[in-house]
Amino acid sequence: MDGSVVDSDLWTDAGESLLADAIRLRRAIHEEPELGLHCPKTTAKIRAALDGLPLEIREGPSTTGLMAILRGSDNGRTVLLRGDMDALPLKEDTGLAYRSRTEGAMHACGHDTHVAMLVGAARALSAQRDRLAGTVMFMFQPGEEGYHGARFMMEDGLLDDPAPDAAFALHISPNMPRGMMGSRHGSLLASADSFIIKVKGRGGHASMPQDALDPIPVACEIVTALQSFITRRISVFNPAVLTIGRITAGTTNNVIPEEAELEGTLRTLSEQTRMAAQEGIERVARNIAAAHGATVDVDIRTGFPVTVCDGRIVDLAEKTAKSLFGEDAWMSMPNPLMGAEDFSYVLQKVPGAMSFLGAAPEGGDWRTCCALHSNRMVLDETVMARGVAMHCGFAQAFLNGDEVV
Ligand code: NI
Repeated sequence: MDGSVVDSDLWTDAGESLLADAIRLRRAIHEEPELGLHCPKTTAKIRAALDGLPLEIREGPSTTGLMAILRGSDNGRTVLLRGDMDALPLKEDTGLAYRSRTEGAMHACGHDTHVAMLVGAARALSAQRDRLAGTVMFMFQPGEEGYHGARFMMEDGLLDDPAPDAAFALHISPNMPRGMMGSRHGSLLASADSFIIKVKGRGGHASMPQDALDPIPVACEIVTALQSFITRRISVFNPAVLTIGRITAGTTNNVIPEEAELEGTLRTLSEQTRMAAQEGIERVARNIAAAHGATVDVDIRTGFPVTVCDGRIVDLAEKTAKSLFGEDAWMSMPNPLMGAEDFSYVLQKVPGAMSFLGAAPEGGDWRTCCALHSNRMVLDETVMARGVAMHCGFAQAFLNGDEVV
């Protein structure tokens, strides 16, 4: 960085020297994955790893999340660094020596590495607190995988005092070249709402449909009508993805059931499209059903909002990554991803950015290796050295620089 405020060598060296510890912690968490808002074993491991550091640790009643606060040499601005902690409900099939010992749970989204990198950053920044012109908040957050953990920690007041002026998070990815980082201005990840549509007809004998009210063809028509709605009524420049992932109806071949149920997900890249699509789902389902004399119950379950990165913070992350690891270490992502992330709640309140960190496994092709959430997902954990350095460099760049006001 020109006129850099980032001690690049200091942080890259710190990342390398803390790597062995980060790997140990990551593997310990990987072996004992926990789900949801309450991850007490993971929290205990974090507490043990932070023990002795000059941090103020706060908790809230709603989750086992931790907010660790580091005061630098000055009362300047405040930066928040976030790592999520929770695993996913699936069986691990990686064959790793340190694979999950908990039946039906796996760190398949790499949150174990996020914790380990954030702990590493807390250690490195604590050792250099005199170099920081402000305050660093380390947000260890459970319940990312659909449980709104970030929102609960905010509702518990953990982001109020101090209140961050900027926020940054890293998400590891096996589908990016090793060590590469990247993000984009604006929408990075989608909103994710789920919905259930119950089509109510009238049961009867399969040979006499005229005397019943068969909900199955009505449900099928709703599926296709929803796809027409999405492609005809939603702008291609502000897209939405709607997928029906489950249809349930009936018990056997010669019975017309009373009900059919559809379940789906809706992804969008703006709140405006999200609202229009939610309204459209209701309207289309209700009116298709009405055309056939049936009725529907539509239950839309609001999920995470769109993850929107602040362009100034993305630029700062890019400069930091290039300063630490060279010009080739950063890619500006041309498109958003339709996955979702509850860091979006933080970014609704605080200007910030999430960056991906490539961790394609050794010998694997990043284009084809198993994606996040796969039962076979593996990562090159040595990239955690870069993640630690990136958290540190970003914190210093924001606190000591004047690029972003
Ligand atoms: Ni994740």
